[in-house]
Amino acid sequence: MEEWKVIRKVSNRRTLGTVWLVERKVMSPTGYDIERGYFKFANVKTQKYIGPLAATELIAYRLAQVINLPVAEIRLVKVGEQIGAVSLIKQAQPLYHWRQLSSRVLHDIPNLIKDSERLLNAFVFDIWICNFDRHGRNAIAYSTGDKYDFYLIDHGLSLAGALQRVKNPWNDPFWDNKVSFKYLKGTRHYIKSYDRLEPYVKQIQNIQFKNMEEDKSLTSITSIVDSIPHHFLPSKTKTILKNFLFHRQQKLPEIVQRVVKKRFN
Ligand SMILES: Nc1ncnc2c1ncn2[C@@H]1O[C@H](COP(=O)(O)OP(=O)(O)OP(=O)(O)O)[C@@H](O)[C@H]1O
Ligand SMILES: [Mg+2]
Repeated sequence: MEEWKVIRKVSNRRTLGTVWLVERKVMSPTGYDIERGYFKFANVKTQKYIGPLAATELIAYRLAQVINLPVAEIRLVKVGEQIGAVSLIKQAQPLYHWRQLSSRVLHDIPNLIKDSERLLNAFVFDIWICNFDRHGRNAIAYSTGDKYDFYLIDHGLSLAGALQRVKNPWNDPFWDNKVSFKYLKGTRHYIKSYDRLEPYVKQIQNIQFKNMEEDKSLTSITSIVDSIPHHFLPSKTKTILKNFLFHRQQKLPEIVQRVVKKRFN
């Protein structure tokens, strides 16, 4: 497991835990590069509220990769004596929280955000994994010259994080009926039509539950959940998450249509 060192404490939230800025040196042909990231872990107290945090972040990252969503790379790492997840920082400067983008940009998303269709994909993905936390600090934007590119961060309150926080069992109708998903500022106009979301619903429905042959490529729900080391995620929780993801995948058209109807009409 990679060894990282702490630069500084970034935030200290009683229920959700501390986030640390960390770095490590990596050898490169020209000497050393510095990799930086944000590190978080669940201790006994925070685990009570948000469950197996590092595993949740890693599963969300790997699922997002299957559908080509831009998400910060997550690695399970050790910082001092603590194991947890690091979210790698993109080497672009400056980085902005989505909510820092100017209204000029937010009013002209199709022209000023690169591949802005990915925002529709992200909205559907958040509904699938039950991420209730897509506020304006959980997407990072950076300039690419004439446009802004972006990536998503912080999926700690999705999947096992959401189930642990709310406490309703995974198969409680509560989850199918929940519509209070956040969306990024400026996107309301684009995500309010189900027709535009449907291709991304289908894309998620096309993710295999299990691959027939041994799946080292991490492209099925089963291989992604089962790839998490057992000390980060007990097998009982793995079974729950596979059921939860499969159930929401099957019901996704209905669930997304309900969100659209109740939130936007
Ligand atoms: N990969 C990344 N690239 C850039 N910034 C990041 C990245 N990961 C985390 N951050 C920064 O660290 C902050 C805290 O990280 P994160 O959102 O994962 O934790 P959190 O405690 O759940 O925060 P919040 O309450 O803001 O949602 C982010 O708001 C962002 O500023
Ligand atoms: Mg956050």
